[in-house]
Amino acid sequence: MNPSVNAGHPGVLLNVQGLSKKYGDREILRELDLIVESGEFVCIVGPSGAGKTTLLQCLSGLSAPTAGRVVLNGREIHETPPEMAIVFQDYSRSLMPWLSVLDNVTVALRSTKLNKQARHERAVAALTEVGLGDHLALYPWQMSGGMQQRAAIARALAYQPEIVLMDEPFASVDAQTRADLEDLTLALKNHLGITVVLVTHDIDEAVYLADRVVVLGNRPTQVVDIVEVELGAQRDQISTKADPKFSSLRSRVYRGIRGEAPTAADAVEG
Ligand SMILES: Nc1ncnc2c1ncn2[C@@H]1O[C@H](COP(=O)(O)OP(=O)(O)OP(=O)(O)O)[C@@H](O)[C@H]1O
Ligand SMILES: [Mg+2]
Repeated sequence: MNPSVNAGHPGVLLNVQGLSKKYGDREILRELDLIVESGEFVCIVGPSGAGKTTLLQCLSGLSAPTAGRVVLNGREIHETPPEMAIVFQDYSRSLMPWLSVLDNVTVALRSTKLNKQARHERAVAALTEVGLGDHLALYPWQMSGGMQQRAAIARALAYQPEIVLMDEPFASVDAQTRADLEDLTLALKNHLGITVVLVTHDIDEAVYLADRVVVLGNRPTQVVDIVEVELGAQRDQISTKADPKFSSLRSRVYRGIRGEAPTAADAVEG
């Protein structure tokens, strides 16, 4: 384990300790350590095929680690815990086409102990939160990709989770929609006080969204850098990305992914 990763984090929500994952003889993840504090936005960035989805599956209890453990709120995870929700990349496969958007969210709440009226109210509130309050009766096939992904985010929010895991959630939409969804996610995180762990291969997206970027190297994948992003809670697609701090942070993340040492120009303490 890398001791610097775990040092000095009092409000720990998610604690990943020595996580390794093999598929047969193929070693994908090797002894990953990761701390996520309550209320933090952590982006995990790494090259394609590094094992980012595998990591999220282990974090959510959908896949068992080969070694190590994942602890949420002090309890080791063996299945997806009730205080966790997941948003997958492929919105076109995550919504049921034969149900309206409202029913998609309401049905997902059947696993909770809420009664029908409460499920309806939760679903309407979550869809309103993501800007779909006036589109409750639409079917997924009547919605744009961005709207479908908003619906998938609403479904996650309806559980009122403490932590949301997102796997490349904006990879399949156009650039403008992607920027809108990034800003929506930031606003929801700030407004609702939830913790977000978002996996992406997009370095700009990671730096723009995160309080902290966890940089993964090539397989077998380990944490190669952890970058604190001190750009404030309020971000803006134009001014934040024009900030010289933004470009030095993105250079540092980029070098980490390429396996190069940080330079003096990336002088951001992590
Ligand atoms: N269920 C599985 N069984 C065997 N191998 C798997 C399984 N799931 C993933 N892999 C392998 O693990 C490696 C990492 O895959 P993973 O999907 O986690 O990477 P990723 O970083 O999410 O990739 P991408 O950037 O393309 O989304 C790949 O080589 C993949 O073939
Ligand atoms: Mg993936």
